[in-house]
Amino acid sequence: MAKEKKHTVLDLFCGCGGLSLGFEMAGFDVKMAIDNWEDALVTYRHNRRGVLAVNADLITLDPENVEEKYNVHDVDVIIGGPPCQGFSVAGKRIIDDERNKLYKSFVRFVGHFQPKAFVMENVPNILSIGGGLIKEAIIKDFSKLGYIVTYKVLMASDYGVPQNRRRAIFVGLHDEKFSFPPKTIENPVTTYDALSDLPENSIEDGGEYPTAPMCEYQSLMRQGSVKVYNHQKTIHTPETQRIIAMVPDGGNYKDLPQEMWSLRKVHIAWTRMNSRKPCFTIDTGHRHHFHYTFNRIPTVREAARIQSFPDDFHFVGSRTSQNKQVGNAVPPYMAFAIANQLKLYI
Ligand SMILES: C[S@@+](CC[C@H](N)C(=O)[O-])C[C@H]1O[C@@H](n2cnc3c(N)ncnc32)[C@H](O)[C@@H]1O
Repeated sequence: MAKEKKHTVLDLFCGCGGLSLGFEMAGFDVKMAIDNWEDALVTYRHNRRGVLAVNADLITLDPENVEEKYNVHDVDVIIGGPPCQGFSVAGKRIIDDERNKLYKSFVRFVGHFQPKAFVMENVPNILSIGGGLIKEAIIKDFSKLGYIVTYKVLMASDYGVPQNRRRAIFVGLHDEKFSFPPKTIENPVTTYDALSDLPENSIEDGGEYPTAPMCEYQSLMRQGSVKVYNHQKTIHTPETQRIIAMVPDGGNYKDLPQEMWSLRKVHIAWTRMNSRKPCFTIDTGHRHHFHYTFNRIPTVREAARIQSFPDDFHFVGSRTSQNKQVGNAVPPYMAFAIANQLKLYI
């Protein structure tokens, strides 16, 4: 029997590949991925060997050249997240500056390839900037290209990601409105479920798991992985360790004596994960968010678990760069839920 042809995907602003991974998990065939950050591309290529991952500036890249040079034709779906800082408004007007060009390049690629669908991810406040000005501009730009655009803010923990991360998702289809995927789980996966099998101390890359998986989420994360990678701890100063030790599981700076509240300038400082809940949005490595019990920030592997990257997805580069790659990504399980739903339409 002939093998069913998979839908082809082009991932713009691909980063290390969270969105790509979710689409592959749902059975899509990512043909090409583009970003201008080599660190993230090194990780991308390391994990997705069959995908052409190209370093290029999407502001200036011409989709026609991409089609010819890389022989990429018949793209079924374009996915991507133009960086969130790429929108600015003045009064009722969208400022025509460099940053807005990132989003415009996504529009240009959709216009050129005319895929059956596109999925564009961004921060939730994209819907409210300038009283909805950006949102309206997005709908208008894609409508002109013949798409019916639907948008919604999705919560990652509704799709089995142990994280309360909210993201605005725009989906465009040619003939109908897209219905976003319903919740896929009843009880959210907690931070404890995500991390409790990973030890306090570092494991050298390629080291053994110290315990068997202790819940379904840990078993899922370990599928296809026999060794541990990216679990090296940060050693804080004794003073930092002493202060964070005063904050309980799920607590924050308010648990410290008031005279210590201003030790760090931002209100998110000295925050501990809450083991009984999904984690807050994992950041790109600002060193303010601590493990729910260990007196240190999460390792890259722990952050990856919170983002639903399976353990066989390895991060490459400096620790700072790895943290940024993980924190920037769309959680693969959330991307999977969107991709799975999209299959009903194309
Ligand atoms: C939010 S991250 C994307 C995360 C990705 N979708 C994932 O799931 O892993 C945005 C990406 O846009 C890339 N980027 C920013 N400006 C760019 C440009 N001018 N050309 C190409 N990529 C760019 C950044 O390097 C970054 O990796």
